[in-house]
Amino acid sequence: MGEFILARGNGRHIPQEDKIFGISNRAKAAIAEKGYDKVVNGTIGALLDNDGNLVVLESVDKVFKELAPTDYAEYAPIGGIKPFREYVQKAAFGNRAPKGFKEAVATPGGTGSLRNTVANYSDVGDQILTSDWHWAPYNTIAGEIGRSVATFELFTEDGKFNIASFRAKSSELLAKQESLVIILNTPAHNPTGYSLTVEDWENVIEALCEEAECGKTISLLIDVAYIDFAGDEDEYRRFLPLLERLPENVISIVAYSLSKTFTLYGTRCGAMICVAKTQEIADEFRRVCEYSSRGSWSNTARIAQVILSKIYSDPELLRLVDEERAKYRNMLLARGKAFSEAAKECGLEIVPYDAGFFISVPCDDPDKYSKILEAEDVFLVPLAKGLRISVASVSEDKCRTLPAIIKHAMEK
Ligand SMILES: Cc1ncc(COP(=O)(O)O)c(C=O)c1O
Repeated sequence: MGEFILARGNGRHIPQEDKIFGISNRAKAAIAEKGYDKVVNGTIGALLDNDGNLVVLESVDKVFKELAPTDYAEYAPIGGIKPFREYVQKAAFGNRAPKGFKEAVATPGGTGSLRNTVANYSDVGDQILTSDWHWAPYNTIAGEIGRSVATFELFTEDGKFNIASFRAKSSELLAKQESLVIILNTPAHNPTGYSLTVEDWENVIEALCEEAECGKTISLLIDVAYIDFAGDEDEYRRFLPLLERLPENVISIVAYSLSKTFTLYGTRCGAMICVAKTQEIADEFRRVCEYSSRGSWSNTARIAQVILSKIYSDPELLRLVDEERAKYRNMLLARGKAFSEAAKECGLEIVPYDAGFFISVPCDDPDKYSKILEAEDVFLVPLAKGLRISVASVSEDKCRTLPAIIKHAMEK
């Protein structure tokens, strides 16, 4: 029997079970059987407290509970309610808004922004460029609409951002296609935790200015899903004004997500925000993205748009939300520090890490090591080039002991 019974394959290979969900389910079963303390579930892409419970910001929850029925029951306009379209730019850019023509379109999470960017700024058959270490759904998003992913090497041998590889790959793709969508997930990249430095960004912008001389369209999608869990909000937005240097045929699109920043994962809300050189290009962005939204999910759920608008229109409330998030961010950063220090002590190599939800350990046969670790009740995600550990879902104590366990498994 072929891979599909009645469904059409359309060139896709769809596994029977999603690998990450499979491991995650086995981890949950192990916790149910043996208890939370006996198991390490490092597979979850959401922030959990030290007892394994989902962190939900109380200040955000309070706004949620006080909503009027129309705040969630009514349809939102396709591109989002008006206050959201404005306030979400403040949320994404903070005090570092680049000058230029900016438009925001509401999307179902950062995922919707990724999908709309690929759909509208590349042609069918094109390759989308991102780094070799990347969030696997980029492949799914591109593949679902007839595109695929090409990669550059994220790191040099000595663990720095590989600008030479970025430049070479961009140039190679621009030579053979009419446009190029580039996805950079920073700061606090998934799966490595790397954040491009301001110097890395200067190099990226310089490379793109040179590549753009060919006259083709380049779309730089900056996936900032973890921007508020990297460290000081303003410090990690310092790169944004550099986008002003890009020429007219390069559009920057920031894929902003409310999932992590407001712990509103399940409400499916985000926004795509463009920074364009002319009003015409920004208007076109809004028109094509709204049209595409209509044809895929129609409008985005209103509820989180209202919540964000209420938070940003009340400075005291915004202060409370920022303060509460900072407390959890510090918890997360302490876990990352504990893990990387312990890795250094026991000689476990990790991929250059700065901050965020994930740390990666490079290795040759990730599936093998993930199975060995699973037998010891340590559940991690095997990627193409290593193992991913979610420090977002593992307590600080466990983060301190985990590197030695992984190192030991790798010696088997
Ligand atoms: C790298 C990256 N980008 C984007 C997203 C988008 O998430 P959402 O669609 O929930 O906003 C995620 C979520 O896990 C992610 O890890």
